[in-house]
Amino acid sequence: MPTPYYSISDFTLYQGDSLELLKSIDEPVDMIFADPPYFLSTGNGKVNINGQYIKFDKGNWDRVRTRDEKNEFNMKWLSSCCRLLKENGTIWVCGTYHNIFSVEKCLDELGFKIINMVVWQKPDPPTTLSDKRLNFCAEYLIWATRKRCKDYTFNYDDLFKLNGGTQMQDVWKISAASAWENKCGKHPTQKPLRLLYRAILASTKPGDTILDPFSGSSTTGIAATLMNRRYIGCEMSQEFLDLSIRRREQLCDSNAFMALKRRMEEDPEEVMVLVNHARTDLKEQMIKTGICYTRVGESKGSVLVTYGFERMQYVLIHTNGTDAHLFRLKSKGSFQIWSKETLVKYGFNPESSPYYAVFLFDNSHEIPFPKTPNLRNKIMTYRAKIRPLGDFIEI
Ligand SMILES: C[S@@+](CC[C@H](N)C(=O)[O-])C[C@H]1O[C@@H](n2cnc3c(N)ncnc32)[C@H](O)[C@@H]1O
Repeated sequence: MPTPYYSISDFTLYQGDSLELLKSIDEPVDMIFADPPYFLSTGNGKVNINGQYIKFDKGNWDRVRTRDEKNEFNMKWLSSCCRLLKENGTIWVCGTYHNIFSVEKCLDELGFKIINMVVWQKPDPPTTLSDKRLNFCAEYLIWATRKRCKDYTFNYDDLFKLNGGTQMQDVWKISAASAWENKCGKHPTQKPLRLLYRAILASTKPGDTILDPFSGSSTTGIAATLMNRRYIGCEMSQEFLDLSIRRREQLCDSNAFMALKRRMEEDPEEVMVLVNHARTDLKEQMIKTGICYTRVGESKGSVLVTYGFERMQYVLIHTNGTDAHLFRLKSKGSFQIWSKETLVKYGFNPESSPYYAVFLFDNSHEIPFPKTPNLRNKIMTYRAKIRPLGDFIEI
């Protein structure tokens, strides 16, 4: 076995060229997640990010290669992976049209069959600088196992639950890695933790070993640690290995661990916000007490218990569409019924009903939201609304 560049409990990093390194690793693994070079950097392409044209170049490791060169490269690392993968293990490989057909060809020749081809759909893709093609907004993940394997791990029930009680589909809408997962620095092609969470949840059990031959900033390893799996990563760049170490060491702080785990497991498509109008003095009292109340029903100032209500995890309190404040609810998707008299004890003065739906929120921590919410948006401001969290914060 090679000497690790870094090792802490169940997280090990090796430095070097994977084409060679993988040959000297002996540990059988349950799952491989590979995010290899896509070979799409020409060095002179440009991409529009927030209105600015930025040179598109991921690095030398991503330089365009001929079809034969790509096949040769993919065959080499995939053969080594094939040796390390347990009989009932599965492999995930990311790509775009630049590399994915070559990967599929190699996998087929190595005796693998495709279980699924997942489309990773990015909701906010950068503009593709061309009026001759569609805007790229997806990447693909091949999920494969040996042709002879019938009993690979597939946690159908976990994904069913994650997908709100219906069968998980093969299109995953997940935002690119954003600020909350870049606190230790950023890799130019960093995958979002939520993508890894789904793949690992689908195809491994706690305690399983996961290998990533192109570790980058070790998103796979960070998700593995957060999910109680063992990790082996290979990476040639010292810069990215050091970034990986910073990301891993961050998890030694239990608060940071729990915060990252919670955000990784959250499906922002699913998380809803109760958006409630309150006059300025009432809003101030709500923020002071951590109590938001409203009536339930169709009328002015009420909230409808409707689709998404059970997924409500935040409250946003505003006055006439401005001066909005966002907080996390203390319990998801539920409310208490309080009498008018109880609310009076907390300094409120409700007038229109004997009973109210009360939502308790954590007023010690206001959540900043960079997106300017369009709270008016042709909707009656006085009606409490349930809206997706993604309307307010980067997800
Ligand atoms: C697409 S990136 C992986 C990004 C990673 N999934 C993340 O979330 O940070 C590919 C990585 O593979 C590394 N790499 C490319 N060719 C390699 C090779 N032959 N051996 C080892 N690492 C390599 C690059 O330095 C780069 O960091």
